[in-house]
Amino acid sequence: MTASVKVHEDAAELASEVASRLLARLEELQAQGRVPQVVLTGGGVADVVHREVARRAQDCSVDWSRVALWWGDERFVPAGSGDRNCRQAAEAWLNHVGVDPALVHEVPAQDEAESAEAAADAYDELLARTVLASGSTGFDLVLLGLGPDGHVASLFPGRPEVEVDTRYAVAVHDSPKPPPDRVSLTLPALCRTSEVWFLVSGHEKADAVASAVAGLSPGSAGSPAARVHGREATIWFLDSSAASRLE
Ligand code: 6PG
Repeated sequence: MTASVKVHEDAAELASEVASRLLARLEELQAQGRVPQVVLTGGGVADVVHREVARRAQDCSVDWSRVALWWGDERFVPAGSGDRNCRQAAEAWLNHVGVDPALVHEVPAQDEAESAEAAADAYDELLARTVLASGSTGFDLVLLGLGPDGHVASLFPGRPEVEVDTRYAVAVHDSPKPPPDRVSLTLPALCRTSEVWFLVSGHEKADAVASAVAGLSPGSAGSPAARVHGREATIWFLDSSAASRLE
């Protein structure tokens, strides 16, 4: 599956396009009788997208009580911490639409699980029992940010978690990006999806984008980002700065 690239002038235009396409995709999936299974990401670009989706949420036919949400990674901090990806998504978007809490699958927080390993085990078990059960179609859409080093979710280049293929969620410690303790979906989990959308803005990502989109990554089997693909589509939503190193 080749990746497609959509370049926008700036982050605001990128967020507008992603929000518009996300709402349309949710409507389309619900019209097919599906409960859309969507994996959200953390990061600054995602926050802009979330706010844009919330702004448009009432101008569409999406039944928000029938959308299932997951996280590609989560920081292992107390549930009330502003560092939690799920809390950022709730404040920017989910609290403003009528989602069903039973379909919002947050990763256990530091004050809800004994360790990041226990939180990863719980999330792994939930994924394996539900949306990623064998024979299931998996996720409908995985949204991902991109780090300057080519990381996606909390899978950082050269780290052992990148190669884990025997489970869907893992604990991450000493993360190069603070906070240090996290839970991340693994590559097999991130690829169990119909579509992957990368949301990337900023000059500092341009090399990582070029490396991942071209599938070239010096000295390794490809950055984590280069190894995530959707079954049906992989789309890179970039602003012009992030796209500046593409041929
Ligand atoms: C996290 C994110 C992480 C993020 C990228 C890009 O929990 O930190 O999931 O993978 O998406 O680091 O973040 P920015 O969009 O803020 O650059």
